Amino acid sequence: MKQFEIGSQGSTANQSKTGTSRLAVNAAFLKDIKDDNQDLKILLDKITPITRHRQTATNHWPELITLFSDLRDQLALHFSLEEAYGYFDDAVVSAPQLSVTAELLRSEHPQLFAMIRDLADQASGICSDRPEEVSRFIQRFDAFRCAFEKHEESELKLILDSFDDDLDVAD
Ligand SMILES: [Fe+2]
Repeated sequence: MKQFEIGSQGSTANQSKTGTSRLAVNAAFLKDIKDDNQDLKILLDKITPITRHRQTATNHWPELITLFSDLRDQLALHFSLEEAYGYFDDAVVSAPQLSVTAELLRSEHPQLFAMIRDLADQASGICSDRPEEVSRFIQRFDAFRCAFEKHEESELKLILDSFDDDLDVAD
């Protein structure tokens, strides 16, 4: 397993409470990271149909173990890139509500990563011939996928709002 620091810049949230720093969005970089993330899309496109039905998941269990391990590593990279290039600390943020949303969304990365890390660990420990274990695992993955999709949609909205905000400032 590759090692990445997730949420390593968490101290920023504390700084912002003191008013010394706020979180801003590097909208163009954050959008580039999302546009370039083909490997993540390919992995999710492989996993989603396999986990749609319990029997399909059971039949492909060894493959799923590998896919979940790959997804964990891919998401570690994804979140690390977003945190390294997609957000930045800014003492002056023209739209404070965007800063609050940015902090909230960035703070979701460690929770989302913990979910996929646990799923990858659980996949290798599950007996695929126990239907109830497979069903519970699929439910947990569905919950992760919903949370991740919601997070991604919110980040895309934040990117658009940031672009709008830049245009307003330029006017
Ligand atoms: Fe994110």
